[in-house]
Amino acid sequence: MNDFHDISACPPASLPQDPRDVHAMLKVLVEAERCAVRGYTQICNMTAGKDHRTYDLSLSILNEEIEHESWFSEFLGEGPSGHFMRRGDTSPFVSKFLK
Ligand SMILES: [Fe+2]
Repeated sequence: MNDFHDISACPPASLPQDPRDVHAMLKVLVEAERCAVRGYTQICNMTAGKDHRTYDLSLSILNEEIEHESWFSEFLGEGPSGHFMRRGDTSPFVSKFLK
C-alpha cells in the first residue's frame, strides 16, 4: 500500500501537532482535497479527446473531489460551498460506473 501511495500525486496527509485543533485538521483535509482536484484535473486534461472512458471516469471523480473540497472549505469559513444534499448512498457522479 505504501508503494502505491508513493506514486500518487499528493503528499501524505499528516495530523496537525495538536490533533484536537479542529481548524488545523480542516486545513489538512481541505489541502488534501485540493491536491486531489489538481490530480484529477490533470488526468482529465491528459485524456480529453483521446481516451473517452478514462476522461469520463476522471471527470466524475473530479466532481466528487470538488464537492469534498467545498465541504471543508465551508467549515473553514471560506464561504458557502453550494453543495447539494444527497439522497441515497451512491454518488450521482460515479454511480453510472458502478452498475
Ligand atoms: Fe475527496
